[in-house]
Amino acid sequence: MKFTQFLLRNSSIPKQALVDRFSKFSPSPLSMKQFIDFGSANACEKTSFVFLRQELPVRLANIMKEIDFLPDKLLSTPSLQLLQSWYATSLMEIVGFLEKEPDDKKILKKFTETLVNIRNRHNNVVTTMAQGVVEYKDAFGSDPVTNQNVQYFLDRFYMSRISTRMIMNQHSLIFDGSANPAHPKHIGTIDPDCAVTEVVKDAFDSSKMLCEQYYLTSPEIDLTQVNAKGPDQPLRIVYVPSHLYHMLFELFKNAMRATVETHEMALHLPPVKVRVSLGSEDLTIKISDRGGGVPLRKIERLFSYMYSTAPSPVDIDNSRNAPLAGFGYGLPISRLYAKYFQGDLQLYSMEGYGTSAVIYLKALSSESVERLPVYNQSAIRHYQTSNEADDWCMPSKDPKKLGKYERRR
Ligand SMILES: Nc1ncnc2c1ncn2[C@@H]1O[C@H](COP(=O)(O)OP(=O)(O)OP(=O)(O)O)[C@@H](O)[C@H]1O
Ligand SMILES: [Mg+2]
Repeated sequence: MKFTQFLLRNSSIPKQALVDRFSKFSPSPLSMKQFIDFGSANACEKTSFVFLRQELPVRLANIMKEIDFLPDKLLSTPSLQLLQSWYATSLMEIVGFLEKEPDDKKILKKFTETLVNIRNRHNNVVTTMAQGVVEYKDAFGSDPVTNQNVQYFLDRFYMSRISTRMIMNQHSLIFDGSANPAHPKHIGTIDPDCAVTEVVKDAFDSSKMLCEQYYLTSPEIDLTQVNAKGPDQPLRIVYVPSHLYHMLFELFKNAMRATVETHEMALHLPPVKVRVSLGSEDLTIKISDRGGGVPLRKIERLFSYMYSTAPSPVDIDNSRNAPLAGFGYGLPISRLYAKYFQGDLQLYSMEGYGTSAVIYLKALSSESVERLPVYNQSAIRHYQTSNEADDWCMPSKDPKKLGKYERRR
């Protein structure tokens, strides 16, 4: 009897054994090309099924191992307990397919239904986790080491979630038998010919609508695009339009809010400048506002989960009416979307003037490969760093000590 079969039949064996087993495998990152091959003419549902029933447990178990490194008091919050139960249930459900016959059409159908269920079960993972972090922070405060560990963990945890949703979505969209009538050329969530500036305009318009509802005014867009191959060449890449839209929408909301709030008394709002440029390696989108900027000291903090504002239950219930600023997860999650396919998102600010947010994406689909966390010794070491002394001198605050030698501790 195979080990998994043995585990599944023997319900007295804790789920931990499954987590241990699957976390020993490294996740297998997929390239855009592989995603497209899975969904093109020679797409094979059976191959995708056989891949996913192993890969999903591996990705889930890898991140479940890291959950254990969070502070005990955070792990014991009701939010974290709930979240862990979702992960355990989903892992068990997928592992249940390991011994199933891939040639059986009914099994394949059941698998797709299971994926849809899992995706729905995990819909509120981000807000639930955020709530747990806020409960913990309110009750026990936060110190730099905890902040650093939670930041390291959440970047990996949310990245893992983006990736599992991506591979589940691809399978269920491609193999549910119904083509997408609005976008017949899309392969699941991927647009092999994604017109970047169209997505920019869509995201800008949605943000503008929200801004006008809230402030009764909004800045205009000043958009230019450059293609290194020639002025008339289209600006297209292979990408997931919903991911790109997510990042742009978040950046536009921030830019508009800053612009409106710093020019409250002005008759005319300075426009939000957008530059899109396609080179041989990067597709770059720069969004510049004149919203007063942020001091350099605070920039890092804007990406911090621990500094974010509390997601109150009211916010969660009304998430469809979210105003221009919510939990404070706009920037960190957008940066993860950019990094997911080997890109990045950076902020450059001039305090007193404005901010530029830059999204970098890979221009070539051969370089767009998933960036996935793996549970290994290096990851463990990150969680084990203790509160060590700084290795840069701190300026002395006591003027009497100036010029005197301090004894090393
Ligand atoms: N372009 C900008 N100009 C000035 N401040 C900015 C800009 N972008 C972000 N910020 C600051 O960074 C903070 C964090 O931004 P972020 O988008 O992560 O969260 P948020 O806007 O507060 O909430 P949400 O989760 O709804 O996005 C903002 O609250 C704002 O103070
Ligand atoms: Mg925001």
